[in-house]
Amino acid sequence: MNTPQGYRLISVDESRAREVLHVDAFAFAFTVPEKDAGFIHEILPWDRTRAIEVADPMRGTEGTLAAVHASFKFGTRVPGGREVPTSGLSWVGVHPGHRRRGLLRAMIGDHFARSLARGEVISTLFAAETQIYQRFGYGMAATEARVQLGRGAEVRPLPGSEDLIVEVDSASLERHGDAIASIQSRMSRPGTVTTLAPQSLADILMDLEIDREGSEELRIALVRDGADPVAWALFQRKQDWADSGPDGKVRVRAWGALDAAATMRLWGVLADFDLMSSTHAGKFALDDPLLLRLKDFRSAKVTIADNLWVRILDVSEALEARGYAADCDVTVQIDDAFLPHNAGVWRVHVAAGEASVTRDDTTDPASADLRLDIQELGAVYLGGTTVMELVRARLADERTPGTAAELSSAMASDVKPLANFGF
Ligand SMILES: CC(C)(COP(=O)(O)OP(=O)(O)OC[C@H]1O[C@@H](n2cnc3c(N)ncnc32)[C@H](O)[C@@H]1OP(=O)(O)O)[C@@H](O)C(=O)NCCC(=O)NCCS
Repeated sequence: MNTPQGYRLISVDESRAREVLHVDAFAFAFTVPEKDAGFIHEILPWDRTRAIEVADPMRGTEGTLAAVHASFKFGTRVPGGREVPTSGLSWVGVHPGHRRRGLLRAMIGDHFARSLARGEVISTLFAAETQIYQRFGYGMAATEARVQLGRGAEVRPLPGSEDLIVEVDSASLERHGDAIASIQSRMSRPGTVTTLAPQSLADILMDLEIDREGSEELRIALVRDGADPVAWALFQRKQDWADSGPDGKVRVRAWGALDAAATMRLWGVLADFDLMSSTHAGKFALDDPLLLRLKDFRSAKVTIADNLWVRILDVSEALEARGYAADCDVTVQIDDAFLPHNAGVWRVHVAAGEASVTRDDTTDPASADLRLDIQELGAVYLGGTTVMELVRARLADERTPGTAAELSSAMASDVKPLANFGF
């Protein structure tokens, strides 16, 4: 991928941390007071942070940064229970004075090449604007529900969940980082970041005054089963008073739970703080136990949004790394304009839950059983969307009758995917 004329792609180490922050502050329209700016050192992986520097005075002051991005080293849970090496793209920003000149395109090419060289077979992201990344082959792999729970929202009780212990505290990386990492590593839901980069743990627990918007400092609710941590939530309450009395709001920044009992115990606390009239949260999978156990689903004012986007970087490695629910043997023509090594015909052969995915140069592309774009393969990878749904939406072509249903059943997951914290 070519870097536009007048610019050069570089690695940036921590000595340029403030310059990286400067570019993203311009790109995302925020200002960090000088006293807080040191946070950037903690939250970026400095061996995986890249930038585009001005190389020609015609483009601006030579040596200044025009664009930046970073990628976290993650392990992502996939259907079947394994974890795949993942490059979590983040902090993508192009200074407004340099936008629409191809700098993002150049950074994406660089990100893909470096991720592949490190053996990372998928890239994931949360999109600031959903149109940006589809052109590069990212598919919407998970959706999430966002809810507003009234105080004491009624749920169908779950015997035993009340026996779990809840601690409420001010959040701290030192005191709570290990518990969060331990819960994440045991979560079975596809899409979960099960192995976190240390910097993303620091990011989740970062408590900057500019993020508070008048609310309290960052708090944590930690649910334990004996000594074992089983659920966590980071939240902030904001006090308010209406004519009728207290009208505070709880905002839950991120949360995760191992099972239904832990989920119900956690939300029993989060949705019932004194003086708070509502609790606002996202990162609910559409099959989350809390949503299924609400007595009045409508009262939760559920909205649906995109959650995790997945880009398959290496078709055979990525498909062989996940589990399958049924056997199949189909040929698939994959289009990939950005990474030509993925394009062509692949034979997906699954037996006893294990896939062998091999290039099939003997089949004429036009006679492969199915045809889809790499973006659509990303969309079905975690089992959130099915191949049959793509075919019905005319986003995939079935050429041999019955093969779409065959691949669809094999790739289906009975657990909806979700990434439970943003990065
Ligand atoms: C989004 C952003 C990174 C794009 O950077 P850029 O250098 O201007 O993008 P490029 O010039 O490489 O554009 C590549 C393509 O994406 C398109 N594109 C870029 N940003 C887009 C957007 N916000 N919406 C729709 N299309 C967009 C361009 O039109 C171009 O299309 P083409 O391939 O058909 O020519 C930049 O505008 C930015 O930093 N925005 C604010 C921060 C942000 O949203 N970051 C992403 C965080 S997830």
